[in-house]
Amino acid sequence: MADVVLRDVRKSFGSADVIKGVDLEARHGEFVVFVGPSGCGKSTLLRMICGLEKITSGQLLISDENMSEVEASDRGTAMVFQSYALYPHMTVRDNMSFGLRMAKTPQTVVEERVRRAAEILQITHLLDRKPKDMSGGQRQRVAIGRAIVREPKVFLFDEPLSNLDAELRVQMRVELSKLHNEIGATMIYVTHDQVEAMTMADKIVVLRDGLVEQIGSPLDLYTSPDNRFVAGFIGSPQMNFLKGQIVEVAQGAARVSVPDAPDHLLGIPLRADVSVAAGQQVTVGIRPEHFLGTPGGPGLEVSIDVVENLGGIAYAYGRTVASQDVILKAESETPPQSGMSVTASIKDEYCHLFDGNGQTLSMPAGALRTREAAA
Ligand SMILES: Nc1ncnc2c1ncn2[C@@H]1O[C@H](COP(=O)(O)OP(=O)(O)O)[C@@H](O)[C@H]1O
Ligand SMILES: [Mg+2]
Repeated sequence: MADVVLRDVRKSFGSADVIKGVDLEARHGEFVVFVGPSGCGKSTLLRMICGLEKITSGQLLISDENMSEVEASDRGTAMVFQSYALYPHMTVRDNMSFGLRMAKTPQTVVEERVRRAAEILQITHLLDRKPKDMSGGQRQRVAIGRAIVREPKVFLFDEPLSNLDAELRVQMRVELSKLHNEIGATMIYVTHDQVEAMTMADKIVVLRDGLVEQIGSPLDLYTSPDNRFVAGFIGSPQMNFLKGQIVEVAQGAARVSVPDAPDHLLGIPLRADVSVAAGQQVTVGIRPEHFLGTPGGPGLEVSIDVVENLGGIAYAYGRTVASQDVILKAESETPPQSGMSVTASIKDEYCHLFDGNGQTLSMPAGALRTREAAA
């Protein structure tokens, strides 16, 4: 059963069309992440789901019930904001129980729910403190606790970790995943951080400019992006993009020449439903790790500018003979040195191919195997 369904949902502020027709579903218990650049409409979508904002057109269902005329307080959703939005003069206990007390929930129920939520979030020792006497991470836990005590059908999180420092972000990321496993509620989580998206989501919705670019599991989006935008957005460091031209098409694969790799004609398997022709200009996409462990042989010649050795792995930043920037992932024990020229073999079966509109033409066999192995 789907807990949340959006059908052709649109939102305009005056003459500005902000959400331009979004279809999506969050199944019961699913952890869905909305990801996309700043201003693409992530917060607006969340605010419409929880009822802080009316939809301009389309349908919004929660547990099969049409929400158009339902007040925010009756939707069974609870939202956690980036800014925490706690009452400064109230203790943690009062902040967490405020909504329940307003709804005239019996006191024993309120006390039990606050106790349980505090236990899950490990903030029992903070219940009598006020927000000003707590760290950012502790305040964010209180904000999450305030959502938990309401026992919503659907949790909505709007960039809840953005104000935390890097270490705490990682810790809270893991704890939110644990929380999801423990209470099993449907969660919709907004972030512009693609690492959060990759690590937390059952399903990622990639948004751009008020439209859905692609919906899929993290590995789906990583291995089989539908277009160049998704390919570039998911993955860190980013996929490399090189100009190329199709030389010939045969047996479901394209032979592609790339000025950056003049000695090597790439053979890239094509999707079944695409039409391509010899002579067509294309973009070849190669992830930094798909050069790994393949020195020598024909491939991409790169003069290395900078090497970042992270200990476990190294990234080399350089330029090709055709002066395009590329990033290579390398073994940390034997990284290339800056100033060096290296030949990085291209693993054809991992290459992506995009047409002039950025639509994906390829079906990288190696990438699909990665996905199957993980499934
Ligand atoms: N109340 C509003 N009035 C006018 N424009 C708005 C309003 N709220 C959001 N917008 C616009 O809608 C777009 C999407 O905003 P938002 O949903 O906040 O993006 P995101 O959360 O993805 O960064 C932005 O261009 C923003 O300026
Ligand atoms: Mg936002």
